[in-house]
Amino acid sequence: MIPAILPTYNRAPLSFVNGEGAWLWTEDGTRYLDMGAGIAVNALGHAHPALVEALTEQAGKLWHVSNLYDIPNQQRLAQLLVDNTFADTVFFTNSGTESCELAVKMARKYWSEKGEDRTTILTFEGAFHGRSSAAIAAAGSEKMIKGFGPVLQGFVQLRWGDADALRAALTDDVAAVLIEPIQGEGGIRVMPDADLQALREMCDETGALLILDEVQCGMGRTGLLFAHEWAGVTPDIMMVAKGIGGGFPLGAVLATENAAAGMTAGTHGSTYGGNPLACAVGARVMELMTEDSFLPRVNAAAGRLRQGLEGLVASHPQIFGEVRGAGLMLGIKARVPAAELVQQAYAQHLLTVPAGDNVLRLLPPLNITDDEIAAALDRLDAVATALERVV
Ligand SMILES: Cc1ncc(COP(=O)(O)O)c(C=O)c1O
Repeated sequence: MIPAILPTYNRAPLSFVNGEGAWLWTEDGTRYLDMGAGIAVNALGHAHPALVEALTEQAGKLWHVSNLYDIPNQQRLAQLLVDNTFADTVFFTNSGTESCELAVKMARKYWSEKGEDRTTILTFEGAFHGRSSAAIAAAGSEKMIKGFGPVLQGFVQLRWGDADALRAALTDDVAAVLIEPIQGEGGIRVMPDADLQALREMCDETGALLILDEVQCGMGRTGLLFAHEWAGVTPDIMMVAKGIGGGFPLGAVLATENAAAGMTAGTHGSTYGGNPLACAVGARVMELMTEDSFLPRVNAAAGRLRQGLEGLVASHPQIFGEVRGAGLMLGIKARVPAAELVQQAYAQHLLTVPAGDNVLRLLPPLNITDDEIAAALDRLDAVATALERVV
């Protein structure tokens, strides 16, 4: 018999009832160290007092009004994003998938308004942009699209890291290039700064719009507010979600005035996007992340975690391969099935996330403490030691 919840997830037999910072508790009081943070969602940890305050204060005033009216919290959050990024304008969504939908629509509308037949969007193997029909077509993997055809047309997947293929495909009839600066689900694969700079130049030469998917790698995760800032280039359109809501469902599409030119009244909308509750939390997240001390602390924590992981790779070469990633978006290429590492980590009361390419992902809250990093490293050491006994 089909379960009451549609069985699209293979869930671990774990259920949490409380959270605080980097910790989660099960009903029986067992405490787990959360190095997954809801897959890069709980950027400020669980139950951050300032976010609880922002949410409950707004909840006591007003939950929902239609986008037919001005929403002050939305205005406030949009201004914070515009003031702190390349963007001139923002549309709020409820998820990364919805941000993908709008990014694709916006790019195509841009060319349609210009009267040009440019609809093709270049994407990359190993990408993950969400689960809607457009997002699975963009990623294009057999695993995601099988059985869900007909697949939305107009996406061409290129090999990750193949600069020649990209140059050949990026002709002047391409509408846009859509890429994650760091592939998350694909296995923490980092696009080198020089490649992102070259891609920006190629887009400028052909006029193609550059769409960055920073749903997972954005919002402070790499030690700058957005990952592309390390390369010193800016996109035309950017997808955001996950960390921006700190655990409350919220996403956004950020764009330049030029890229957004086609999106006039009536061309797009959302019932809940930019809802007062979500934006109250999102604005508070942005305020905290733009405090002077926030990103330097993320970089310090990232250095500490990375150094510890390199040490684990050196001491457990049978279990761990290389360390990948940037900031607090780190992965360890596993020499045993990554899923087994995740299972063993449960036994150490440690939450990690598997990724493609047999990688174990670590995406802790960005405000994780040094002691918590040390505890995570100790637990990973114990995971590797336990597995060494059976390998
Ligand atoms: C890079 C990236 N884009 C898009 C998405 C889709 O986001 P959501 O699950 O919020 O729809 C994800 C989710 O994991 C992601 O990692």
